[in-house]
Amino acid sequence: MKKTIPVSILLSSLMLTMFFGCKKTSTPAVDPCLNTTITITNSVTATVPCESTPSGSITITASGSTGFTYNKNGGAYQSSNTFTGLAAGVYTMGAKDANGCTKTQVVSVGNATAGPNFTNVKSIVSSKCGNCHLNGGNDGSVNLDADCSIVAKWDRINVRCVSQGNMPPQGLTATQKAQITAWVNAGHKFSD
Ligand code: HEC
Repeated sequence: MKKTIPVSILLSSLMLTMFFGCKKTSTPAVDPCLNTTITITNSVTATVPCESTPSGSITITASGSTGFTYNKNGGAYQSSNTFTGLAAGVYTMGAKDANGCTKTQVVSVGNATAGPNFTNVKSIVSSKCGNCHLNGGNDGSVNLDADCSIVAKWDRINVRCVSQGNMPPQGLTATQKAQITAWVNAGHKFSD
């Protein structure tokens, strides 16, 4: 004879299964970042104007958690906290810990200021190269109004004003020539 199970028992066992089933699988959604406060500090090196490749850099230091990786402008995260080759501008730097908790900070990279040797050369150019090369003057296809034009022409300025000594036509003092030489030897950059 065939056994039958009453429908009421079937239903209640199904409900029990559903009840305990649900209870077993539901884990409360805990935000792993709830008690994590990440703090970012930064150190910036300005980029040097007039150079063909930007030289700014940002190093960010994160604290408040562990296992940090770092990114710039929402890009891929990397293990190094230093970002180099940066042009002047504003960057959003990020840090992410081992649990995926993140923090960002906006950091500005500026332009390096003129160095003492360049400042000396600039002053020689301003006082000695006159309208031949300044105020739009373009003798020998050389105009030195812009700081970066002086930087770009460092070699020809060195040759004509120091080695050959025939520029400007009235000549430079020994001190002025020594100042040009000092700038050339320092690296002839805007920041030197
Ligand atoms: C009275 C005008 C005059 C003054 C002042 C003068 N120059 Fe010139 N310069 C010229 C002329 C003209 C030429 C083109 C003929 C030549 O190359 O000699 C020239 C050419 C040059 C050249 C390009 C030629 C090359 O060899 O590449 C450089 C660089 C230069 N001058 C640098 C200077 C600098 C730097 C000063 C200031 C410290 C200066 N000059 C002052 C008239 C002047």
